[in-house]
Amino acid sequence: MKFSSLLGALALAFTAAPSAFAFPAYMKDLTAEQIRDVQDSPLYQSLKEKRQLPLVVPGVKKIPDADHPFQAPGPDDIRGPCPGLNVMANHGYLSRDGVTNTAELTWAMQEALGLGPGLSAFLAVLAVSVDGNPLADKVTIGGPSPKVPTLLGSKSTGGIGRHNAYEIDSSLTRQDKYFGNNFVLQGDLYEQMFKTAEDVTGEGVLTHQSQAVFRNRRYQDSAARNPEFKFVPIGVLFFGADHFYIRTLVSSGPDGRNLPATRESLASTVGAKSLGNGKWEYVPERFPDEWYRTGIPYELPEILSHAVISLTYAATHGPSLPLGFNPDKASDPQYVACQFVNTAIEQIPSVLAGIDLVSQFTSQLTGIPQFQGC
Ligand code: HEM
Repeated sequence: MKFSSLLGALALAFTAAPSAFAFPAYMKDLTAEQIRDVQDSPLYQSLKEKRQLPLVVPGVKKIPDADHPFQAPGPDDIRGPCPGLNVMANHGYLSRDGVTNTAELTWAMQEALGLGPGLSAFLAVLAVSVDGNPLADKVTIGGPSPKVPTLLGSKSTGGIGRHNAYEIDSSLTRQDKYFGNNFVLQGDLYEQMFKTAEDVTGEGVLTHQSQAVFRNRRYQDSAARNPEFKFVPIGVLFFGADHFYIRTLVSSGPDGRNLPATRESLASTVGAKSLGNGKWEYVPERFPDEWYRTGIPYELPEILSHAVISLTYAATHGPSLPLGFNPDKASDPQYVACQFVNTAIEQIPSVLAGIDLVSQFTSQLTGIPQFQGC
């Protein structure tokens, strides 16, 4: 389904889109009134009723709270390639066994990591439908589990670690499946991510530009060395997720604004332990002492803008372009934005197109100037 046809089908829903989902000048300018709008939105209210989980009040908050102490995963607990999901499970914001569901995911991403309700709901619905069992409403955050029943005739219950479904080649800090364990952080790649930041900005602080350059380097390295290299279309979403390192996994200061994302400030949350001399090893992800959730929820318009930064860079600098961009148009952000959004929309299983959460997601896209006219 192309974005333009989806737009037509959802035209009515768009006019009713809550004002909090319109593209703000920048999320940091959210007013108290806009935050109340988010809480009053139909999506938020319906999730509150359906989930019976505590309502998340957005804003800066010390994480973890007393109810969510760190506990290293046991031998039967499932963990996977996503540092965000792993850290939430290690603190019990997600079930510690690594088997979760739409409501728990949607709540935990807001409560522990400060994502907005629209982005959380979209990621949760997509995870359960692409890699879990949407009828049972279960998915694992890693490999398959007998706790997630297989759908007849489907391969979709392999967990979010299923290769080339959600889990892809050329990840920022994970090696390709072809080379071995593709779930755990690789210390050399973690170090390279910050070296790239030094190349781009002169200091070891991640920026949206340095993440764009590093994503492109990782893509080119995998394409050159991995004989089984494949970049599946859903990988386009990770051009956005790469920015989680800057926007939500790093602690905020007392005013709720993210602190600089450095090797040291990110290490514990993403499971990197320093061995000295630029060497790192993987340990279970853990919120460090004095970690504060962002005061400004990370929502779809903002993450999509960040994805377009990375995609435009890749499209203009990569010898092999990930998504079949027309090189003559690659420097046109409108063209790149439309390619991105059409690819992203095509990942949504058509059976889900009518359900509330997905309509909410797609309706938010129309508020973003870059996506109008796609
Ligand atoms: C339902 C929600 C989510 C799902 C299904 C999910 C799934 C995944 C998967 C499959 C990967 C591996 C991608 C690859 O192979 O390159 C990944 C990577 C990643 N995820 Fe998530 N994720 C979710 C939410 C989050 C959240 C809330 C955060 C942080 C706030 C996050 C941060 C990251 C980061 C930074 C990476 C890149 C890891 C790397 O390669 O360095 N994710 N995620």
